[in-house]
Amino acid sequence: MHRYVIAGNPVAHSQSPFIQARFAEQTGQSLTYDRLLCPLDAFAATLQAFAEGGGAGCNVTVPFKFEAFALAPRASERATLAQAANVLRFDAGGWYADNTDGIGLVRDIERNAGVPLAGTRVLVIGAGGASAGALGPLLKARPAELVVANRTVDKAQVLVDRHAAVAAASGTRLLARGLAHCGEAFDVVINATATSMQGAAIPVAPHVLRPGSLALDMMYGPAARGFLDWAAAVGATGRDGLGMLVEQAGEAFQVWRGVVPDTAPVLTELRNRLAGTAK
Ligand code: ATR
Repeated sequence: MHRYVIAGNPVAHSQSPFIQARFAEQTGQSLTYDRLLCPLDAFAATLQAFAEGGGAGCNVTVPFKFEAFALAPRASERATLAQAANVLRFDAGGWYADNTDGIGLVRDIERNAGVPLAGTRVLVIGAGGASAGALGPLLKARPAELVVANRTVDKAQVLVDRHAAVAAASGTRLLARGLAHCGEAFDVVINATATSMQGAAIPVAPHVLRPGSLALDMMYGPAARGFLDWAAAVGATGRDGLGMLVEQAGEAFQVWRGVVPDTAPVLTELRNRLAGTAK
């Protein structure tokens, strides 16, 4: 039996065990997947103990994605660009770090929402870990323009500088901006700030959207509600982060097991399950 966990703090409400159990059933893979609550000051030691006890790998969630990347001697190109990892695989030759958040986001936008990103104008709000994980795969989808807008512009600029070569290879105009003057009428707007989680105001003006834009919040459930209502008020199509969650999980499953699961039925099932429990 191969053992995996979602490592974070908190992890009690993570949907990852449900998602990974469905993928395992679907593909006939023999594995277990549990939650591993890591003390804030003992992430590395807790993971080490899990790996030594026979763990094969893990997902990593807040607030440990940067630390997870730093712990692994080997990393994928996308994790290196992000400087953050949401997936570790405990290979015999050393831990391997990957980041499947960005590809999960791109797949949700392109396949599930049916919006091809090539040639579009994209706004990413936020320049923390969530944004860092998304930028590389977003750029590889070849948008015409990608603006990273953040309260602290310097942090957006650091991300933009780190992704300059990828942007050039994709022919994408990549820019760092403040929140007040980040542009108008984007085709796709992605909220990667902590505002939804905090219940804070949407940090940009509604004119960043136009009727028919796709407005995606990386959160789901009640946390995403404010952003989705804000988008609907200007005629944009709102989308929560549930599809991204399932797609990043599908890519993680592939990194660990070498098998591609079918994400679509799991997303439908998870949406129904959460709708049934949301009050
Ligand atoms: P994560 O790893 O989830 O991205 P993070 O690294 O703490 O979390 O980043 C949070 C992001 O939300 C940052 O872009 C932050 O802006 P700053 O870099 O200026 O701190 C943004 N953020 C948090 N609260 C915000 C608020 N009330 N208004 C606007 N942006 C906010």
